[in-house]
Amino acid sequence: RNNSFVRIVEVGARDGLQNEKTLLPPEVKIALVDRLSATGLKTIEATSFVSARWVPQLADAEEVFRRIRKVPGVSYPVLVPNEQGYRAARAVGATDVSVFTAASEAFNRTNINASIADSLTRFQPILEHAKADGVKVRGYVSTVLGCPYQGEVPVADVVSVAKRLYDMGCYEISLGDTIGVGTPAKARAMLLAVAQEVPMHALAVHFHDTYGQALANILACLEEGVRVVDSAVSGTGGCPYAKGATGNVASEDVVYMLEGLGLETGINLDLLVATGAWLAAQLGKPTASRVTRARTAA
Ligand code: HMG
Ligand code: MG
Repeated sequence: RNNSFVRIVEVGARDGLQNEKTLLPPEVKIALVDRLSATGLKTIEATSFVSARWVPQLADAEEVFRRIRKVPGVSYPVLVPNEQGYRAARAVGATDVSVFTAASEAFNRTNINASIADSLTRFQPILEHAKADGVKVRGYVSTVLGCPYQGEVPVADVVSVAKRLYDMGCYEISLGDTIGVGTPAKARAMLLAVAQEVPMHALAVHFHDTYGQALANILACLEEGVRVVDSAVSGTGGCPYAKGATGNVASEDVVYMLEGLGLETGINLDLLVATGAWLAAQLGKPTASRVTRARTAA
């Protein structure tokens, strides 16, 4: 393992778009993923096979997934909440799926209409099918540093959910600060506690920038050895079931920081900035990426 390489998991086409009220046509989503594929990113989350009633923006998951260009060597994971989602994803050829639950009961009820225990029970058959099908499964834990409904989330709850997902067969566990309330010392302590039970190389961090702490939190986690970071081009995003949460940390800003730290990503920052500026124009709003703002200023 090369300790100076950081893998970015680009979540803009999924986490980034799922909360956008203006429905984008599938062509724009396909163009987004195709542009991202050209930047050197190795992992690009493409869409979600969830209920269209719950997430209207991603109702075109089948079409989008079918039509994106699949670049060899690049993974295109998709979110699946249950077996129905898994089957739909497999039907269009997905080989990488992500299951998602939370460290907070209250959040899970609102987001996926299930308790933590019930969600894990739903994932069991997905993990079994995936093993037989040769499909990789990533696991997300949300609300790791705070919950919009219950407030504080005990670190012990994050550790136990992360460990359960890892023991079930998830190759990687993404630790999500869904509402972006975390600060570096808390992020570091949470990561180190989880790393007691799940190997650091199987952990990813997923920060939202609601309180402007995301880059600082990522730096703290990099210092502890994490080498997988989730981010969204142009800093789009947010969970529709996490009131008040804003976008993911911008991929452009993460890559700029990593380059400055002498860490490799394999990503062409100029192409990423161009993609971020293009996406902001498609959404008709200013980019949330500071790097893209700086680089595209008139
Ligand atoms: P439910 O209503 O409890 O489900 O929703 P149900 O099993 O009772 O089914 C109800 C209807 O949904 C049925 O249709 C099913 O067919 C349909 P009807 O017969 O009424 O016409 N259905 C589906 N349709 C399409 N795809 C499926 C599917 N499953 C059932 N897979 C459910 C339960 C989980 C489906 C729902 O709550 C849901 O889709 N939730 C998704 C919410 C979501 O996507 N949230 C955002 C992602 S999580 C996130 O952003 C956090 C993260 O970024 C990390 C972080 O930041 O912390 C990952
Ligand atoms: Mg998220």
